[in-house]
Amino acid sequence: MIPDLSIQLAPKNGQGLLLTNPVMTASGTVGYGTEFSQVFDIEKLGAIICKGTTLEPREGNPQPRLFETASGMLNSIGWQNIGVKALIKDKSPIWASWRVPVIVNIGGDSVEDYAQLARELDGVAGISGIEVNISCPNVKAGGAVFGAEPESAAKVTAAVKATTSLPVIVKLTPNTADITAVASAVADAGADAISLINTLKGTAIDIRKRRPAIGNIIGGLSGPAIKPVALAMVYDAAGAVDIPVIGCGGISSGEDAIEFIMAGACAVQVGSASFSNPHAALDILEGIMQFMEKEGIKSLGEIIGAGRG
Ligand SMILES: Cc1cc2nc3c(=O)[nH]c(=O)nc-3n(C[C@H](O)[C@H](O)[C@H](O)COP(=O)(O)O)c2cc1C
Repeated sequence: MIPDLSIQLAPKNGQGLLLTNPVMTASGTVGYGTEFSQVFDIEKLGAIICKGTTLEPREGNPQPRLFETASGMLNSIGWQNIGVKALIKDKSPIWASWRVPVIVNIGGDSVEDYAQLARELDGVAGISGIEVNISCPNVKAGGAVFGAEPESAAKVTAAVKATTSLPVIVKLTPNTADITAVASAVADAGADAISLINTLKGTAIDIRKRRPAIGNIIGGLSGPAIKPVALAMVYDAAGAVDIPVIGCGGISSGEDAIEFIMAGACAVQVGSASFSNPHAALDILEGIMQFMEKEGIKSLGEIIGAGRG
């Protein structure tokens, strides 16, 4: 018997966000999905999350932007993207013809930027949801990231919710003192779901050149090295909120994904694994299915949170 992998990620939202399976791509690791659709049948995935989108097009941070450490990848891409208008004009018509839902990841310098982005994306055919990246610096408040504090995270969430009827996923940063306080604040502010984690702050020094190995000096660490950190944060967040939680961070196999699901996640995102294996997300989906079949698990609901102590 084929297990039921479907999952509703926005049960409290009128439009809902029903996925046929829990595996999605993590923002920034598959562009707009259009590039990867040439490599494999991307429409088999649960959802596609596109590259972080801003109001205006951006060129991103100075090179070098990627650096491989002994156990993870550092990146400081800095929102290189085509801007929301080009996304709506050139990408959303392609997405509208896909059977897989596409979620647009957004970032801004101010609460107003986020609200404006949400307003522009509302009602656009081909866009099924918004993922709000709150790992962005609040320029008006001296550059502290919105997601570092519960109050600023809640403000962004409420502003986005007020300007769109699309399902809203708020993506949390691990670079905060208290992940459960931020998770609870965004849930109270109306988020339909949360995803976590974004990258962990990190850097590396090129000892021969005697300077930072990445152009922006500080980057974000991702990949297998961050999986235990991500898992602990997902565990804690899932215990603190009653909205769906999406796990992300170092997931490279079906078994990794099952760990996140058993910690309380309803779905998972695959990021850095796609750099070494472009089929990673599909392989992970296959791995989840095999595990469920082997263990006689009939539906995803049976194992969500099943590993909690
Ligand atoms: C090259 C690169 C670009 C990224 N760009 C974004 C982005 O635009 N918006 C965002 O919310 N997260 C972005 N992320 C973070 C990932 O979506 C993900 O949260 C993080 O990499 C942890 O997952 P992983 O270990 O599976 O890669 C980016 C990550 C990488 C490696």
